[in-house]
Amino acid sequence: MNKVILYCRPGFEKECAAEITEKATQYEAYGFARVKENSGYVVFECYQHDDAERLVKTLPFHELIFARQMFVSGELLRDLPPDDRITPIVGMLSGAIERAGALRVEVPDTNESKELMKFCRKFTVPLRAAFREQNILLGYEKADRPVLHVLFIAPGCCYVGYSYSNNNSPFYMGIPRLKFPADAPSRSTLKLEEAFHVFIPADEWDERLGSGMYAVDLGACPGGWTYQLVKRSMMVYAVDNGPMAPSLMETGQVMHHQADGFRFEPPRNNVYWLVCDMVEKPAKVTSLMSDWLVKGWCREAIFNLKLPMKKRYEEVAQNLTRLRERLSENGINAQVHAKHLYHDREEITVHVRRFWSAVPGRRDER
Ligand SMILES: C[S@@+](CC[C@H](N)C(=O)[O-])C[C@H]1O[C@@H](n2cnc3c(N)ncnc32)[C@H](O)[C@@H]1O
Repeated sequence: MNKVILYCRPGFEKECAAEITEKATQYEAYGFARVKENSGYVVFECYQHDDAERLVKTLPFHELIFARQMFVSGELLRDLPPDDRITPIVGMLSGAIERAGALRVEVPDTNESKELMKFCRKFTVPLRAAFREQNILLGYEKADRPVLHVLFIAPGCCYVGYSYSNNNSPFYMGIPRLKFPADAPSRSTLKLEEAFHVFIPADEWDERLGSGMYAVDLGACPGGWTYQLVKRSMMVYAVDNGPMAPSLMETGQVMHHQADGFRFEPPRNNVYWLVCDMVEKPAKVTSLMSDWLVKGWCREAIFNLKLPMKKRYEEVAQNLTRLRERLSENGINAQVHAKHLYHDREEITVHVRRFWSAVPGRRDER
């Protein structure tokens, strides 16, 4: 099994390929990425046979920005016989893995794959039984065991492999299924909700997304992101010249500031969250976020970097490097993660958690 299969948003295959190639090199795993535009996946083929498995095990999945899922696979199975697709698929994993904890029969996230997905749903049942019979899959779901993946890219044509449950996306097709709340003022509310699911472990939500915390939302209107904060019983300074949804203002938890987000300063020194969805150049947003974190004006930040340009991967890499440099130059110990979320289109979402500072800021002095 010498291939790493990565899922991505269709149209972002080049970014996903550039990223895995660069990261694999850092792990001394050499190979090349096969890219088919708008396919929704990338195949990274390693020159050394064992490297694909090593990457899937040790390259931290959360460090990949453009990949929604990653698993190790063997050769593409083509022309599966319609009367017995199961035998060749099970054969691919015989001797490769035992007692996996789950099976996901998936497709790339493209319009063309929608029909194929119906087949996948039906096919999962007999395939699961066959894997269980061979002890490749346990008889019950187990979250801490590897996950089997069968990715159908066309009828009768699939990649078969597995991922490690401590280093993959826990979601089917790498996509969290979130329901749009009917009372939210904009669909972009789902971006922030997804970011919480991706960046904040579920058992830390009460502590890090808890009631009574203070948050600042820059570029808040009409209030989709503020809605998420209000829903978690936070108090929110919503900064935007536009109008906020009256339903949010009526909660009494929102203070609307009609001001420039680039000039706004926190009115109190216990703001925990800074979120920012302003449509601006990535460098300008990165610089603003760095200022807030360096000054200790917030503990955690979630923000979007909009990517309307051609060289998206380079743009992201430059901005994240600059952000890390700024934090490090100023003695800030922080964790930075970025992800191209399912609800992100031409943008990525960045999360920064500030742990402590060698040089006290306004907040640290308290
Ligand atoms: C994509 S929308 C934000 C949507 C919002 N996150 C939601 O979920 O409803 C971008 C917002 O940023 C605001 N904006 C852009 N530049 C700004 C600035 N310099 N200061 C404050 N707001 C700004 C715009 O007025 C716009 O409402």
